[in-house]
Amino acid sequence: MNVLIIGDNKILAMDRACAVLSTGQLIALPTETVYGLAADATNGEAVARIFEVKGRPRFNPLICHMSSIEMARRYVHFDEMTLRLAEIFWPGPLTLVLPLKPDSPIHPLTSAGLETLAVRVPTGFARELIARYDHPLAAPSANTSGKVSPTTAAHVAADLGEKVQLILDGGPASIGLESTIVKMTDGSLELLRPGGLTSEDIEQAMGVTLRRRTGTAPIIEAPGMLRSHYAPSAPLQMNAQFAEPGDAVIRFAGQEVPGDTQAAIILDLSPAGNLREAAANLFDYIKCADAATDRHIRVAPIAPTGLGEAINDRLERAAAPRP
Ligand code: TXA
Ligand code: MG
Repeated sequence: MNVLIIGDNKILAMDRACAVLSTGQLIALPTETVYGLAADATNGEAVARIFEVKGRPRFNPLICHMSSIEMARRYVHFDEMTLRLAEIFWPGPLTLVLPLKPDSPIHPLTSAGLETLAVRVPTGFARELIARYDHPLAAPSANTSGKVSPTTAAHVAADLGEKVQLILDGGPASIGLESTIVKMTDGSLELLRPGGLTSEDIEQAMGVTLRRRTGTAPIIEAPGMLRSHYAPSAPLQMNAQFAEPGDAVIRFAGQEVPGDTQAAIILDLSPAGNLREAAANLFDYIKCADAATDRHIRVAPIAPTGLGEAINDRLERAAAPRP
């Protein structure tokens, strides 16, 4: 089996990961948001393998993971605002879209040929590994395209298995939602994707209001944001007001969905109504619900404030009609 438990021997895990990456192969690694499928971002063939393994129909730009602001500075330019954001929130669940330096060794497949690069510094093992490997890692979530993001090594193994050279198991992701993506456009900060860092936290720290895109048009610059990106097999209904026998029900804060007593399964994202706990459970519970029913997945209403913004965003995508 190609799974290594980091806690058993971190140095061994680190050495094996570096060896795999340096031959242009892929690793799956834990981050605080979700598990990533990582390749050396400067190696075009390795990055191409990411798209192949995920079965991604298009070459979307990928997030480049770095170990520090200093490392990021080798590849991208910061302005005053983005530097302050990085200083406050890195390492952590924040991705900044920044102008690439000319002659940067990042392979154009990583950035999809754009003049900007999405960069983030993750916490924990991923960051230590990148510091040791000393090359940035391109890493989308470690799942087949269109499926829910993995928050455990077991999710990765079940979905991608032998297609990944090495899966590093660091336990369940602590946040469970992808990073928040922010870009500086025309002198103001724009929210490209809500995620594990709340908009409110950013706005409070920076004393500004984030610009948001409205409407349902796909975000051209963040093509991974397709509406149906998180589709489970069973149709999912959010803000559910009723459930039918045989449905899978996802509650929140102990709130019943009327009719759910005959559900095939009842899960609660957070019986105590804690949004952080709900975020961490979200993808796993969607998978469990999907496996438990061949009818509908009904999800109770969740207030769209704080992490609720990103949770509702992911639920909307999971509920969207399939292409
Ligand atoms: O939490 C995360 O962000 C996870 C973990 C593994 O770090 N990674 C992740 O990466 O979600 P990925 O590749 O699945 O998502 C990248 C998103 C996509 O929506 C992509 O379109 C957008 O970032 N993106 C990448 N480069 C961009 C750029 N230059 N401008 C605008 N959006 C960009
Ligand atoms: Mg993804």
